[in-house]
Amino acid sequence: MGGAVSAGEDNDDLIDNLKEAQYIRTERVEQAFRAIDRAEYYLEAYRENAYKDLAWKHGNIHLSAPCIYSEVMEALKLQPGLTFLNLGSGTGYLSTMVGLILGPFGINHGVELHADVVEYARQKLDTFVKNSDSFDKFEFCEPVFVVGNCLEVTSDNLQYDRVYCGAGVQKDHENYMKIFLKVGGILVMPMEDQLTQIIRTGQNTWETKNILAVSFAPLIQPSRTDSLKSDNVGLPSASVRCLQDLARIYIRRNLRNLINQEIQARGIPPRAPPKRKRKKLRRRRIDTYVFVGNQLIPQPFDSDEDDKMEEGNREEEEEEEEEKEISEGLKQEESTPSLLRERIMSLPLPESLKAYLTYYRQK
Ligand SMILES: C[S@@+](CC[C@H](N)C(=O)[O-])C[C@H]1O[C@@H](n2cnc3c(N)ncnc32)[C@H](O)[C@@H]1O
Repeated sequence: MGGAVSAGEDNDDLIDNLKEAQYIRTERVEQAFRAIDRAEYYLEAYRENAYKDLAWKHGNIHLSAPCIYSEVMEALKLQPGLTFLNLGSGTGYLSTMVGLILGPFGINHGVELHADVVEYARQKLDTFVKNSDSFDKFEFCEPVFVVGNCLEVTSDNLQYDRVYCGAGVQKDHENYMKIFLKVGGILVMPMEDQLTQIIRTGQNTWETKNILAVSFAPLIQPSRTDSLKSDNVGLPSASVRCLQDLARIYIRRNLRNLINQEIQARGIPPRAPPKRKRKKLRRRRIDTYVFVGNQLIPQPFDSDEDDKMEEGNREEEEEEEEEKEISEGLKQEESTPSLLRERIMSLPLPESLKAYLTYYRQK
């Protein structure tokens, strides 16, 4: 699935396109998308495709298209402090974006069938925490991933405020999925070729809405041998944070507030948002999809409207060239070291404590 918006030159450009085409509609979701570079979740050799609105599959690693993730993030209506369960959590890309909105007092759990994919997701998460320029700008709810078939989760598990399933759910499993949800919670999942949002309005009442026509690979069913030992996947426990962890959260929060106050007092204007090209974007009509190598390539409708759009895009390409220089300059500015990290490193504390406060970050 995908191909609903034009490819971007970089992550910000892709997000601009998703926003202009109204797939991303809220500031919270936009910030989370901008904070995580989609290319980081690709294998090195395939990164050139990361800013296309396309799904990507390589072995067991599978990412859905950006337009789908945008709709999912919007439909989940995430807020700080909520509990989230991701069934078929894959690379952890979506779980990591969700974690930026949930903040430190949320819960962020994922279940993924393939052990190698969970290993990949843990490595990507570690790289994000240690190296990403975005990490210091947010309070993060770190995802915890477990290996297992999400159709075999033990029945005594906790319920969540938000649940997403990243693979196609059979109608027969609709009730099984709903059980994971607290009253008032929201479940988003692909079912019968529709991305579906289900709100649990009461103990036995639900509101169901179809959001978007989609085509997802189905959830893999438990094998016969697995079902002999059914109900065998335990979700992580909802552990209470230790005092040391809480202290780190509050110290970082206070320092961040101090830095912001100082910036305001000195009258330094907030950094201007990068100047981005304005494209006349519309949601493209997608008719069919074909697999070419590892990519699902959309085959859009041929129509006058599409011809006009192509013409418009040619003019815009010329404008893009002019703006390239400006954005190169901005990229350098954006890569300045984090003020929060600088402040922590200047504190009169033992090195080990400073390292703890920075989450052992490399930069
Ligand atoms: C489209 S991918 C989801 C990618 C994910 N949203 C991300 O951010 O990377 C679907 C995932 O569901 C997993 N999956 C399929 N059937 C499953 C099952 N029965 N239990 C757990 N995971 C399953 C696949 O292995 C795959 O990683």
